[in-house]
Amino acid sequence: MQLTEEEQRILDGACGEPQRIALNVLAKLGDAYGADRMIEISSAHIVASSYQIAGEAGIDIYSQLVEQGAKVKVRTTCDPGSIDFARWQLFKTPVDYAERQIKIAELLGRLGVLPTWTCTPYTTFNVPRYGEDLGWSESSAVIFANSVIGARTNRLAAYVDVCAALVGRVPRFGLHLPECRRGDVLFELAPDIGDDFADHFFPVLGYLIGQRVGDRIPVIAGIRQATFDQLKAFGAAAAASGSVALYHMVGITPEARTLDEAFAGRAPAERILVGRHDIARTLEQMNTGEAGEVDIVGLGCPHASIDQMRRYAVLLRGKRVRAGTELWICANTVVEDMARRMGYVEAIEAAGAKLMIGTCHNDCPLGAWNFRRLATDSGKFAYYTPTTVGTQCVFASTEACIDAAVTGRIAPE
Ligand code: F3S
Repeated sequence: MQLTEEEQRILDGACGEPQRIALNVLAKLGDAYGADRMIEISSAHIVASSYQIAGEAGIDIYSQLVEQGAKVKVRTTCDPGSIDFARWQLFKTPVDYAERQIKIAELLGRLGVLPTWTCTPYTTFNVPRYGEDLGWSESSAVIFANSVIGARTNRLAAYVDVCAALVGRVPRFGLHLPECRRGDVLFELAPDIGDDFADHFFPVLGYLIGQRVGDRIPVIAGIRQATFDQLKAFGAAAAASGSVALYHMVGITPEARTLDEAFAGRAPAERILVGRHDIARTLEQMNTGEAGEVDIVGLGCPHASIDQMRRYAVLLRGKRVRAGTELWICANTVVEDMARRMGYVEAIEAAGAKLMIGTCHNDCPLGAWNFRRLATDSGKFAYYTPTTVGTQCVFASTEACIDAAVTGRIAPE
């Protein structure tokens, strides 16, 4: 790999030991993937910010970096932590566990990481522009940045993202190269699906496509319009059930104004027709629980936008979450603050729902709750919670989830 003079100096240790190690890791990664050189990035987003992911090893690593005087070189935001820093007692988090997460927060702050604690950094202080190169991890954020914004990042692993943040560079391979961003597989929607899609269609389609496409790049044709939240939900599900880091939606995402542009003039390697029965079969897979009582309802995965907060407030107005059922809504502090100013938080909390800010069901230790059945409108929660939270999972629309919180019962879609 060709290094610039400055990169060679960093590698020789002239800028400090943390930077030397970071560049060495990135250079080895680049060599493994055939990168020709490094490229500068405009921002980083790191995932080992939660104690659940970082653990004691993370505390050791960040402590060493702080001792050595390391600072991030580019704007760097962090993924959710393992606690809601303002309300962790509400979620039965053990005190020693919370203290370890607070320690990580202190260390990341000293490294210069912005305490965004969110999987949707693009709704806070990390909003990439089209064509910018990034060093991001967090699968749902990576797929959004690549697909919806048209920025360029590979799906970095934990701590490789920290290396990128420390030197402001990543090796140039994969999704940083225009020729690696062309679509591979065409997904066409069959006429029996119709063309008027409800919100909860998008995570189901994302889940299906993620399963079918693996780490290839899907191109979806047949959707006339999609909102910010629908694209966010679609991508998060596809990135969870597969390893999708970039999708193109013809006529909607910026690198797919036409079908031809999405495939860069080539023919698709494979064409897949998605019909009603495929959607029904995917729903069956997403539902590991059956109709009946529900004790936890999870909304806001990925972290809720301000529009979603308004919707929850409207749906909950005048209602009350049933005793024995929990309704937890995950969001970040920026959205929370705006929702509070708009009166949405008051309406949500008046109904007995809890905001879970800067964290989520999958990042927290929830063993003390003994939950058995979770209802969610998120394809990513549906994929992960059976293992991370250890509950059955019922996937349903947002309206059905709120209804389940109020009645204590749910039926799969
Ligand atoms: Fe975000 Fe947690 Fe979902 S990190 S994408 S709310 S699983």
